[in-house]
Amino acid sequence: MVVLVSGGMGYIGSHTTVELLNQGYEVIIVDDLSNSKDVVLDKIEIITGKLPKFYKMNILNEEDLETVFKENKIDAVIHFAAFKAVGESVSMPIEYYHNNLTTTLVMLKLMKKYSVKNFVFSSSATVYGEAKTMPVEEEAPLSTTNPYGATKLMIEDILRDVYKANKDMNIAILRYFNPVGAHKSGTIGENPSGIPNNLMPYITKVAIGELKVLSVFGNDYNTVDGTGVRDYIHVVDLAKGHIKALEKLSTNSGLVTYNLGTGNGYSVLELVKAFSKASGREISYKIVDRRPGDVGTCYADPKKANNELGWIAEKSIEEICEDSWRWQSNNPKGYN
Ligand code: UFG
Repeated sequence: MVVLVSGGMGYIGSHTTVELLNQGYEVIIVDDLSNSKDVVLDKIEIITGKLPKFYKMNILNEEDLETVFKENKIDAVIHFAAFKAVGESVSMPIEYYHNNLTTTLVMLKLMKKYSVKNFVFSSSATVYGEAKTMPVEEEAPLSTTNPYGATKLMIEDILRDVYKANKDMNIAILRYFNPVGAHKSGTIGENPSGIPNNLMPYITKVAIGELKVLSVFGNDYNTVDGTGVRDYIHVVDLAKGHIKALEKLSTNSGLVTYNLGTGNGYSVLELVKAFSKASGREISYKIVDRRPGDVGTCYADPKKANNELGWIAEKSIEEICEDSWRWQSNNPKGYN
């Protein structure tokens, strides 16, 4: 089975490519390397012994992407490629709406033209907005608080309409909680450019001494210690969820939607403590004001994916921290 992976050189895309290759899928990557590096391809080959076909291109360009559909017989598409920084999306809404919506529309248009019927979409728990009840189920009301989240929800709506009009399509909408960790080998991992927006890469950069102190955004939430609680899921568990989704689509599932999370919430300070233990490094932190737009608590009800996909997040918070630390300490400059 041939799977086209857009954004396959990125953090979640590269880990998913590794799992696909390990499972015997043939992978074609399209990526413009705007938030990744070409060396990732070599690393994928080091881990798997297989070299996926790679097209360096921006998939906003329909003609470019069409060459990939012409040159290959594609069975399924996993669409990761997108802009993903929440704060940046607030200051650059036009770019975010244009990029995230248009790339998806171009992909769907070409899939229709070339009769490719299986589509897996990277959505996010951000589509639950400020969910009222935890853990959050797939049926919870949907809303968003920033342009990045709005693009994810708009694309979900587009996919629901596409499915209504094309009932022979199989579409999996996967709502990720907080992906963290890295491949066990320490060969690939998260490689944010500049100062990280997200908690785990910030912690790892404090641990190697590149950043001085972690700012903890608020300690007055209604949580175990007042700091924000999230559902941290190992990126390899997340990657395996995509394989299970492909297997589901191959049964002619129609449109399906799943939370990919562990079902467990950890606070910022609990994660800091777990990471310190795994790395043997002290993580200096200071409490600062809440970050605008943050919710206090967000964790998944993953039962639907557990039951219908036969998928479960297996890796513990300890393993997550060990793998994040191995990646960061082996590669202090990331891929640079
Ligand atoms: N946090 C800090 N300091 C930091 C960074 C984060 O205290 O320097 C806290 C946040 O306040 C939050 C927790 O750590 O309580 C996690 O924050 P992240 O930025 O790592 O993750 P978010 O939950 O805010 O966002 C993530 C993804 C988004 C996605 C969202 C969906 O980054 O893409 O989950 O819930 F939309």
